[in-house]
Amino acid sequence: MKLWSATSACGALLAARLAGALELNIDDNESIKQAASTVAFEMVSYYYGNESNGIPGLLGDPYYWWEAGAMFSSLIDYWYYTGNSEYNEITTQAMLHQRGAHMDYEPENQTKSLGNDDQAFWGMAAMTAAEVGYPDPPDDQPGWLALAQAVFNRQAERWDNETCAGGLRWQIFPFNNGYDYKNSITQGSFFNIAARLYAYTGNETYAEWATKTFEWSQQVGLISNAYQVFDGTDSAINCSDLNHIQWSYNTGVYMLGAAMLFNKTEGQTQEYWRTHVQGLLDGARFFFYENTNIMFEIACEPRMNCNVDQQSFKAYLARWMAGTAKVAPFTHDSIYERLRASAVAAAKQCSGGETGVTCGTRWYEGAWDGTYGVGQQMNALEVFQSNLGDLVPGPLSNSTGGTSRGNPAAGTGAENSGGGGGGRAGASNPITTGDRAGAGILTALVVVFVLGGAWWMVA
Ligand SMILES: *[C@@H]1O[C@H](CO)[C@@H](O)[C@H](O)[C@H]1NC(C)=O
Ligand SMILES: *[C@@H]1O[C@H](CO)[C@@H](O)[C@H](O)[C@H]1NC(C)=O
Ligand SMILES: *[C@@H]1O[C@H](CO)[C@@H](O)[C@H](O)[C@H]1NC(C)=O
Ligand SMILES: *[C@@H]1O[C@H](CO)[C@@H](O)[C@H](O)[C@H]1NC(C)=O
Ligand SMILES: *[C@@H]1O[C@H](CO)[C@@H](O)[C@H](O)[C@H]1NC(C)=O
Ligand SMILES: *[C@@H]1O[C@H](CO)[C@@H](O)[C@H](O)[C@H]1NC(C)=O
Ligand SMILES: *[C@@H]1O[C@H](CO)[C@@H](O)[C@H](O)[C@H]1NC(C)=O
Ligand SMILES: *[C@@H]1O[C@H](CO)[C@@H](O)[C@H](O)[C@H]1NC(C)=O
Repeated sequence: MKLWSATSACGALLAARLAGALELNIDDNESIKQAASTVAFEMVSYYYGNESNGIPGLLGDPYYWWEAGAMFSSLIDYWYYTGNSEYNEITTQAMLHQRGAHMDYEPENQTKSLGNDDQAFWGMAAMTAAEVGYPDPPDDQPGWLALAQAVFNRQAERWDNETCAGGLRWQIFPFNNGYDYKNSITQGSFFNIAARLYAYTGNETYAEWATKTFEWSQQVGLISNAYQVFDGTDSAINCSDLNHIQWSYNTGVYMLGAAMLFNKTEGQTQEYWRTHVQGLLDGARFFFYENTNIMFEIACEPRMNCNVDQQSFKAYLARWMAGTAKVAPFTHDSIYERLRASAVAAAKQCSGGETGVTCGTRWYEGAWDGTYGVGQQMNALEVFQSNLGDLVPGPLSNSTGGTSRGNPAAGTGAENSGGGGGGRAGASNPITTGDRAGAGILTALVVVFVLGGAWWMVA
């Protein structure tokens, strides 16, 4: 009896797995949509923010606030690529609930760990919503474009040329650890938003900021001459040394910004951006496993020690490469060679868990590696739906049918006549010892990297 039931359970499980294993025919658009739908469903199953006792826009432990913004961005992409509006309601609700009292994605609850990059992930989600014509918020809410402009304006005010002759600090508040760090994702996402605001509005001020940020990133060595993008540098030593670790999303975030500028410029300026797009695309080769065209996170996947944040970075490289292919057509074939191979490999990795379609980490392994989470699901979602890129139109601008409501003064305190512009409440949130300890560990790691010059591997 016992033996029989064990055998039968095992057989049943195997059958369930075989039946459930994610199928993907990369040459069939319907199959790609189905695969995207399957992994999106499991990703959203981690989210309870729309339930009666949930907070819209938060995933909760172990996922930081920014990653929820990144997830909703992937759901905006889902609507764009597949036309499926199933998740629009929770997405719009989250995007508006987290906008903060000043409508700039600096919600008070996040003060104790709010980085410019965290804010930017929500800002980039809003920018995407404007570009893809995602349904507008209700009239009494700021438009998607205005939300992205608010993030831009807030960050431009924080440009810091007191140290390192420029750049943005990672953290917004001086009392948070990491305030001294000037890192690539922070510069890169500000650059990305500025470039896309320029593309959408044609306002030259955004192009000037984008160019200044890119050039500063090069000057200080965050972007090397060989287009490696290093993680960050330390303002406490005037940015005289670098943390050389490389993450896929850093390359991706600059790549899309450069591609948007390429698309909207002419002559020599266009050639300048073409060179950078091509350089960053070449530099992205580090994030493809050996000669397979299969994306991987080189700094942590080989030892399987990616943290929760890092588990989701492939999603953003896939997202921004697909965006690059759209606006810089000369990259299309080379990008799709990689996105196709990566999607086929990812589908094989999505064959685990109780559902038989849970996605793991290492796409270059032919079967589920036993890991799971929002990051793994999002990575697969973005790489699958990216393969529908040829079916969708390119990003809108306000001269090609984009109608998202903007406000060039959003976030500055002068954005509406009634705006008091009084002191921002955020800084009054008490910081607990626990929060400090958590962030302190991060800073310690940063110092080790800077001094030790760690290259690929997370210690
Ligand atoms: C929350 O959103 C999910 C996904 O769209 C949906 O299945 C669920 O019914 C929603 N819950 C509530 C309480 O609306
Ligand atoms: C901030 O926290 C309070 C208390 O938990 C919650 O009611 C509110 O929805 C949160 N706001 C945001 C923007 O997360
Ligand atoms: C430094 O930054 C401030 C504020 O953005 C700006 O007003 C000033 O002109 C900058 N100085 C230099 C030397 O770039
Ligand atoms: C700090 O670095 C900047 C940029 O590299 C440089 O221009 C400046 O002279 C440096 N300042 C000091 C005090 O070394
Ligand atoms: C587009 O945006 C720019 C900058 O905000 C504005 O000057 C221009 O009038 C807008 N064009 C349209 C067609 O709305
Ligand atoms: C262009 O953007 C800048 C910076 O946000 C803003 O101050 C200016 O008003 C904008 N110009 C127009 C025409 O929208
Ligand atoms: C899939 O989409 C591509 C790009 O638009 C199109 O050329 C192709 O015919 C579609 N294939 C199928 C099987 O629908
Ligand atoms: C700009 O992007 C659009 C798609 O959004 C594309 O059709 C066009 O060819 C691109 N322009 C250039 C100069 O590559």
